[in-house]
Amino acid sequence: MVNYYVTMFTANRFAAITFNNVFIKLVGTDGESERRLLVNFRRASAFAQGSMSRCTVSCPSSIGNLVLVEVDKKPLPLFPEDSWFPSKVEVKSPEGDIYTFPIYRWITDSEVHRFREGTALRVFEDGHPYGRYNRDLELQHRKEDYHWDVYAEGLPHCMKADDPLSLPCEVRFSFTKRTEFNFTAYTGRAEMQLKGLADSQRSWTDIDDIDEVFCFRQTELSEYVQRHWKEDALFGYQYLNGVNPMLIRRCTALPKNFPVTDQMVFPHGQSSLSDEMERGNIFLCDYKRLDGAQPNTINGKKQYLMAPLVLLQKSPDDKLMPIAIQLKQEPADDNPIFLPTDSEYDWLLAKIFVRSADFSEHQLNVHLLRTHLLAEVFAVSLLRNIPMVHPLYKLLMPHTRYTMQINFLARRTLISEDGVFTKFSASGGEGMITILRKSLSSVTYSSLCIPEDIAERGMGSISNYYYRDDGLRLWDIIYRFVQGILDFYYKDDSEVQQDSELQMWILDIFEHGFLSQAGSGIPQRLTTVTALTKFVTMVIFTGSAQHAAVNSGQYDYSGWMPNAPSSLKLPPPTKKGESSEDTILKTLPDVNATVWIMAALWLLSQQSSDFVSLGQYPEDHFSEETPCDLIREFQRELDGLSAAIEARNNHLEVPYTYMDPEEVENSVAI
Ligand code: FE2
Repeated sequence: MVNYYVTMFTANRFAAITFNNVFIKLVGTDGESERRLLVNFRRASAFAQGSMSRCTVSCPSSIGNLVLVEVDKKPLPLFPEDSWFPSKVEVKSPEGDIYTFPIYRWITDSEVHRFREGTALRVFEDGHPYGRYNRDLELQHRKEDYHWDVYAEGLPHCMKADDPLSLPCEVRFSFTKRTEFNFTAYTGRAEMQLKGLADSQRSWTDIDDIDEVFCFRQTELSEYVQRHWKEDALFGYQYLNGVNPMLIRRCTALPKNFPVTDQMVFPHGQSSLSDEMERGNIFLCDYKRLDGAQPNTINGKKQYLMAPLVLLQKSPDDKLMPIAIQLKQEPADDNPIFLPTDSEYDWLLAKIFVRSADFSEHQLNVHLLRTHLLAEVFAVSLLRNIPMVHPLYKLLMPHTRYTMQINFLARRTLISEDGVFTKFSASGGEGMITILRKSLSSVTYSSLCIPEDIAERGMGSISNYYYRDDGLRLWDIIYRFVQGILDFYYKDDSEVQQDSELQMWILDIFEHGFLSQAGSGIPQRLTTVTALTKFVTMVIFTGSAQHAAVNSGQYDYSGWMPNAPSSLKLPPPTKKGESSEDTILKTLPDVNATVWIMAALWLLSQQSSDFVSLGQYPEDHFSEETPCDLIREFQRELDGLSAAIEARNNHLEVPYTYMDPEEVENSVAI
């Protein structure tokens, strides 16, 4: 007889324990063991949260290299079936080899579950017939569990689910995450109701009253924004380092529909637009995607959503200052070009209309579509096409955590018919779908890759663009990590080409995420290791760094409503010289719209206590030495970047923390 020493690890997470009997069977290249009771209920503490359980499995002779383990649990007569979350199995063979079998999922039934040994295998090298059979079976089950659904025509497809409990257990929120999320949502709502603000359809009568809404829910930065929101420097700064650092581009020629003259912006002839453009000092923000979208009706009142054009100039002291604003796309007499030299309220009102347009552009295009919805497409495609034993699963699974559930909740509570954004933002309802469709058709592969995006927007050299500086360094660190992992598994391009699972993954993304739009530049097929490395880098970057950049500052910059009104309820001025403070108060959203949006943004800016930062992999999916070394090196590099960002921030009036790796979550989880 020969002995296999088995250790079963139960995860250290809430309710991971089982009171059922657990059985295990080992399958090797030369045979299999008997199904063996691992431990019974009398020693149930062996399966307590965070514990391990050992047993010996004896076989008449060696069963060769271990391929997989079969695990099942059976309830005892007096105990119901329960849910158990094992993390992994380790087996020491009679030859002295240690085999690891990653599990990291809930087992809720009494079926037999099979888990492959941790060495990553692509489909064309998976030679063992039972292993191969199991691989196919796993994907067949996954395709039953993960279905594509169409939320609205023209938008990326999403995960089919009727409620959070219909999502497979492995992708649901943990108990901790769910409890904290519900608590924050509930307390925000309760506070507004207690203060009698939740249903108040009146206008604000004093701008300082807005401060009373969430007086104890403030961040250092939201207070800073409240003090400086009227200033041109902060208005310009937000295009570089606020929640939407994606729209601004260097301007080398004015668009035809934005007839700004030298006389308007340089009334004393101090310079000219063409000279300043030549020097690289002129920038443009064009909200054309919002043009033609049907604005909402809120509290029975028609709302206004503009599609402005904004011209900015870099000042000699490296500040980005707005120099001209046109609120509608088509130039006309009743569509004046507003200037900093106009009256205080004309100029402030023009900037408020721009900030309100930015709210919709940011939330729908930059945040929802370009991070949340795409991250969900990457995740669903991964789970439908890539088995656990594949290196891509091991690499990307941690970057999908909570994405399906947070997106389900966003669809149900934010953008559904009675969702907060639908009810209280200018782009809610019909306009939202129009904007999202237009936005998807403008998403290109290169715009999702920050080095190319920065180059295309001509933003390589402007000072104080920390989104760019931190983002490029993060991209580079992620790229080299991904390159190390993929170079280890794919020895040449032909291996990429013959990996049929990988090819199905990318094709599903092309078809379901980008609706087969070849113009997006998204590949339908991957033919080289380099192309695969870039695509996987983009997937990780989008779900982690990019999402953090456009998500984490939501309350900082929009918590003070006048800096980012979700909607506006008076039309923009058609003439100069008619606006006053009263016009601004009447234009800003009603009290209930303000507080509901503030509560939502507060919720979406909170980190949960089971947050996992970029590059941390609490689940050991990889068991080979090289990928484990690469993970450690990745973490060291991220620590180095984090220290550099902290040192830089010490000298800044407004620190830029959103892309500090310590603050970036591994996945789109909020
Ligand atoms: Fe988010």
